[in-house]
Amino acid sequence: MDHGFAHASWEATFAARPFGKYPSEEAVRFFFATRSAVGSAPSALDIGCGAGAVAWFLARNGVRVTAMDGAPSALVQLEATLRDFGCPPVVSLLGDITQPRRHVAGPFDLLVDHYSLYANHQVKLREALEAYRELLAPGGRFLCCLFGTGCTGAEAALRLDANTFTDFPAGVHRNTGIITLWTQEEAENLLRACGFQVLYRERQLHDRNGVLTEKLIFHLAHP
Ligand SMILES: C[S@@+](CC[C@H](N)C(=O)[O-])C[C@H]1O[C@@H](n2cnc3c(N)ncnc32)[C@H](O)[C@@H]1O
Repeated sequence: MDHGFAHASWEATFAARPFGKYPSEEAVRFFFATRSAVGSAPSALDIGCGAGAVAWFLARNGVRVTAMDGAPSALVQLEATLRDFGCPPVVSLLGDITQPRRHVAGPFDLLVDHYSLYANHQVKLREALEAYRELLAPGGRFLCCLFGTGCTGAEAALRLDANTFTDFPAGVHRNTGIITLWTQEEAENLLRACGFQVLYRERQLHDRNGVLTEKLIFHLAHP
């Protein structure tokens, strides 16, 4: 079975329009909740940085950021975002976020998966989490943002594996390629099985004009 990353759909998205460039509440909360644990000038890897909404916020707050994405147009948008916000330099890498050891040596004090790893087959996602466990410095923290099975369209999407879908007919995942969704309990069990300690977990259910988006947010550490 092909568990590959659908680069083409994300590249088409970034080539077609500007992506959001402001950090979410969960990214901001993670930074302020964890910064005392990782000291001054921590290193961070933004996993699937997109247009840099989290990367610029971290860089402006004294974090030494490496930002990785598989879509070349995302990295073009990242550079523009960094210029717009007058940020210090960020190392940007074009690469597959499910194979991080091909691109970075680590360790990193902070890892940020702000809704990126979910866009991969569950087998690749699990392998990636195991690799990121090795890339997290002792005492470091990992923000892992996944999506839940309550997202609109999941019930009618094409199921490729127990938790992996494609062809969402509706909702925020429509036309975005491969998607892996979990219940909160499944996600927490997966993260523990991959060697992480779960420090904080949050489940948000957004209802926007009847379109449901379920977000599963975790703050992780070494056990
Ligand atoms: C929903 S966007 C999120 C972007 C950014 N983290 C944000 O929150 O603004 C998902 C991002 O993950 C990237 N991505 C997903 N799977 C990838 C993979 N296997 N390798 C490289 N990039 C990947 C996509 O190119 C895209 O930029």
